Amino acid sequence: MADATFEAGPNIALVKYWGARDAARVLPNNSSLSVTLDRLRTRTTVRFDPTMRADTFTLDGTIVTGRPLDEVSQFLDRVRALAHNENRASVDSTNNFPTASGLASSASGFAALAGAASTAAGLDLSPRALSSLARQGSGSASRSIFGGFVEWRAGRRADGRDSYSVPLFPEDHWPELVDLVAVVRDAPTKAIRSGVAMQATVATSPGYGQRLAEVPGRLRRMKRAIRDRDPESLFDATIEECDSFRGVCETTVPALNYLTPTSRRLLEAVRAANREAGRTIAAYTHDAGAHVHVFTTRPALPVLNRRMAGVDGVARWITAKPGPGLRSVAGGASTRHRARDGAPV
Ligand code: DP6
Repeated sequence: MADATFEAGPNIALVKYWGARDAARVLPNNSSLSVTLDRLRTRTTVRFDPTMRADTFTLDGTIVTGRPLDEVSQFLDRVRALAHNENRASVDSTNNFPTASGLASSASGFAALAGAASTAAGLDLSPRALSSLARQGSGSASRSIFGGFVEWRAGRRADGRDSYSVPLFPEDHWPELVDLVAVVRDAPTKAIRSGVAMQATVATSPGYGQRLAEVPGRLRRMKRAIRDRDPESLFDATIEECDSFRGVCETTVPALNYLTPTSRRLLEAVRAANREAGRTIAAYTHDAGAHVHVFTTRPALPVLNRRMAGVDGVARWITAKPGPGLRSVAGGASTRHRARDGAPV
């Protein structure tokens, strides 16, 4: 059986997935919205081999065992069931950014694995089916199937068939928008999976119900702001959403504190830049980790860069913008993965 290689980028959520109505099936309580990023990517090759007795997983050249291998194996079981294929597989992945650093390697990882494993198994899945498949490895991975601005629709069905992502606007929709990613020096490595942490929030944070009630309105505002390329509205809603997410994390029992002193200095620097400008010229957001994404527009970059340069503790800045979704890689060159009807994924 042939092997298949696919690439996918991480995404940063502007509206967060945080809480599942069915954790086993990875069915969220609320719809979420993200930007798939360029520059960062996971590349994964899968080969099913009838002579192998167990699945193997190599990440950045190191053989992986234990829980991460089990998760990959369980994901392959889904693909084997769909393809009526009993063979074990080798999975070889590389990230061009630090794994489990909070830069969302599980999103790009399971999106690339969904593409590579299904194709290597002889399946020809639609983008929507790939998104549902990736979702079951890591919720946020359902969004990394698509490029640009993406919405993961929560769905209502108990079987999860209506819970998948859809592309909203393509990666070139808003060329002025940039995401300055601050890789902070004091970031700890990720301890527990977000999928586990978020259920503690659902169970214990007193503000979670209020957050759930607010999210649909914020999602609508953001979609309008992106459609109209209105930075101020998008940035206001992005900050509000990030503060809501952090609020329910910090009121979880025991508390989930993802930020480090450097992260907090970065948030404060964005607030100071907005105060100085007299309007919202930038937004911060972060996931379940310490790195901070600063969204701004190209005209505001000189002001932002000056502010951010004064923040101690940043190991590296990555200037990212909306990037492509899942693509297959043949002979080292990547081509945009195409849906069966010929439309780009
Ligand atoms: C805060 O779906 O990535 O990034 O696979 O268990 O890590 P795990 O969960 P995942 O959780 C995402 C949480 C978030 C918000 C988001 O990306 O929507």
